[in-house]
Amino acid sequence: MKPLHFFSRLALPVLALLVLAAISTEPDPVALRNAAIERKVDSVLSLMTLEEKIGQMNQYNGYSELTGPGSKEGSTLKKHNDIKSGMVGSMLNVLGAKETREAQELVMKNSRMKIPMLFGYDVIHGYKTMFPIPLGEAASWDPAVAEASARIAAAEASAVGIHWTFAPMMDLARDARWGRVMEGSGEDPYLSSLFAAARVRGFQGQDLAAPTTIAACAKHFATYGFAEAGKDYNGVEISESTLRNMVLPPFKAAADAGVATFMNAFNDINGVPATAHVHLQRDILKGEWGFDGFVVSDWASIGELVPHGIAADNREAARLAVTAGSDMDMESVCYLENLAGLVRSGVVEERLIDDAVRRILRLKFRLGLFDDPYRYCNPERERSSLLTPEHLAAARDGARKSIVLLKNDGNLLPLSKTLKTIAVIGPLADDKDSPLGSWRAQAVAGSAVSLLEGVRAAAGPNTQVLYQEGCKLAVGDRHFVRELKINETDKSGFPAAVAAAKKAQVVLVAIGEDCWQTGEGRSQTDITLSGVQEALLMELRKVNPNIVLVLMNGRPLAIPWAAENVPAIVEAWHLGSEAGHAIADVLFGAYNPSGKLPISFPRSTGQVPIYYNHKSTGRPTGGEMVFWTHYTDERNDPLFPFGYGLSYTTFSYSEPRLSAPEMSLGRSGKLEVRVTVTNTGSVEGKETVQLYIRDLVGSNTRPVKELKAYRQITLRPGASQEVVFTLTPADLAFYTASGRWEAEPGDFQVMTGSNSRDVKMASFKAR
Ligand code: NOJ
Repeated sequence: MKPLHFFSRLALPVLALLVLAAISTEPDPVALRNAAIERKVDSVLSLMTLEEKIGQMNQYNGYSELTGPGSKEGSTLKKHNDIKSGMVGSMLNVLGAKETREAQELVMKNSRMKIPMLFGYDVIHGYKTMFPIPLGEAASWDPAVAEASARIAAAEASAVGIHWTFAPMMDLARDARWGRVMEGSGEDPYLSSLFAAARVRGFQGQDLAAPTTIAACAKHFATYGFAEAGKDYNGVEISESTLRNMVLPPFKAAADAGVATFMNAFNDINGVPATAHVHLQRDILKGEWGFDGFVVSDWASIGELVPHGIAADNREAARLAVTAGSDMDMESVCYLENLAGLVRSGVVEERLIDDAVRRILRLKFRLGLFDDPYRYCNPERERSSLLTPEHLAAARDGARKSIVLLKNDGNLLPLSKTLKTIAVIGPLADDKDSPLGSWRAQAVAGSAVSLLEGVRAAAGPNTQVLYQEGCKLAVGDRHFVRELKINETDKSGFPAAVAAAKKAQVVLVAIGEDCWQTGEGRSQTDITLSGVQEALLMELRKVNPNIVLVLMNGRPLAIPWAAENVPAIVEAWHLGSEAGHAIADVLFGAYNPSGKLPISFPRSTGQVPIYYNHKSTGRPTGGEMVFWTHYTDERNDPLFPFGYGLSYTTFSYSEPRLSAPEMSLGRSGKLEVRVTVTNTGSVEGKETVQLYIRDLVGSNTRPVKELKAYRQITLRPGASQEVVFTLTPADLAFYTASGRWEAEPGDFQVMTGSNSRDVKMASFKAR
């Protein structure tokens, strides 16, 4: 374990900024402002008592929502008294311009130090205007879409007094059983890094003190998405190599993008819970990466060190967490009740407290809260800036870019506006709630545009649109208390649905998942279609072959029967407020689908975890014998691979052409990879041209493929474009067996293509 140099590491960047400001002819305004903030932080800190400092490290849940198991801080009266005496540095789940002002007034009017509170909230994919769930948005492969949605979410949240969102989540996820797979950007560290940085830029903008920006939070640090068996909160056994090469890059990207805060995680990593993890928080985050923001615990995760079995009681838990660098205690009150005693008895050094408080005050200054503690409590903005037509237009644009066309046999899609009869069938067909998704902040329940509404609005004037629910869906509950009703068996709606399907030229079948089947605490052992949905699909298929399956879901689903027997499949996730319009845009061809899967879709639940960037093993292939890595009852490949998605046109790819057979690993080393892509179909379309590499021999075993670059291009029918990628040694670098991030010399393959499976390959040497 490396020595803890975090105090000196913190001082260094500030010093460097001052030196830079001094030698440059034009004083850098950001450096000057940051230097001024450091002086103010020191001055405030020097005036605070130990109790007041610890108060800054305490975060209470508010009044509007409960996003964890039972609030532990006691009565509202106790909460108010603690706020008044400056014992609460931050609150979560206090919402509304009026409510945040009232809470802020308690501290500003009563406490000795008058340090404004920070109001945090889970603004995950929109505040009132809902955008696609993050996994769906990542299917756009367009970080600008995520930046725009985060920008709007920040504008809406800041209008109701929120300073800070607990987003983006950047936990890599390979196991679709895990309910929170919906909240990340899928299985790939490169794609997840681009989306993590884009969302941070979107939430925080150029200036945290601007009235429409909020602080972001990179979560959950780290490995939460690797919970064993996909069971939420479960432990994680992971190698340093996988941690560094797969899990940490998105967090590093967020740190590099200037994310203001980090949240640690509930889970145990190789025997040490993340909340007590010195190596992650002190050595890597605050040490190696020089992160100068603060780390908030996850909900009660400090107190949970006791049931984890690493602390005997809350006092011990507080000691472990503060030593590891957990700066703020969300909801466990372990800090409030124990830290002062721990410092006074000499068990915890006060400089640890000072370090944490300095980080928290720094953000409060950067947000401008000391200038105006009520700066975001603006009822006028709250009235005028939520759910605006511009926000809804952006939600529709992001939603249609997130849709993935998985199958389109015989060009069943796009639908003609001259169709006489369309049947829209399924439990999700007229569901105005599930498209809003899990983690939906203040979306109004039932406010999304349903598929049926979207189709009615888009269909031609002479098209008759029939509707039948067909069956019920497994229904979750947003209040986290009820069991899921997964085993729905009622088929009484089938006959009417079949009758409608018989009458129609095309049948749109909307099935998948209720939005509360995914999200926190919603892990499942089975990721096939729940209840009688597949049975319904089979009945409809018997009477009408022209079926378009519209999937709405928060996780990859195993749908082998549908993939084999249904001609067209549209992956429509939970797409947000404008879902129905966005799907109709794609179904009728107003938007040519361009999404690509950010995560592999398995053939069966037993195949998970399944991911494209796996290792080779010593027995990657086999002949007639059984002695190779495979299942005997299932194919090895996914149903739909990472990066996969069709268009209403087709694209052909040339072989990749390299500028040289070798690439130098020196500072100026580079290699150009050129590939010509041609639109071979009859309509204009957007293609995501993907580049993967394979490092054939490494000091540690390397993945069989790694996404390293991609480009989105739009081509008219018949048009070709040469796409040029420039690889540098940085693209070949990884966390090696010697613990360094570097490229190793040797043989490489470079692959280009339209998804992780369909690629063409060239080889080069790196020296
Ligand atoms: C627990 C979740 O894990 C975390 O992501 C969220 O931000 C907090 N609860 C607060 O709601």
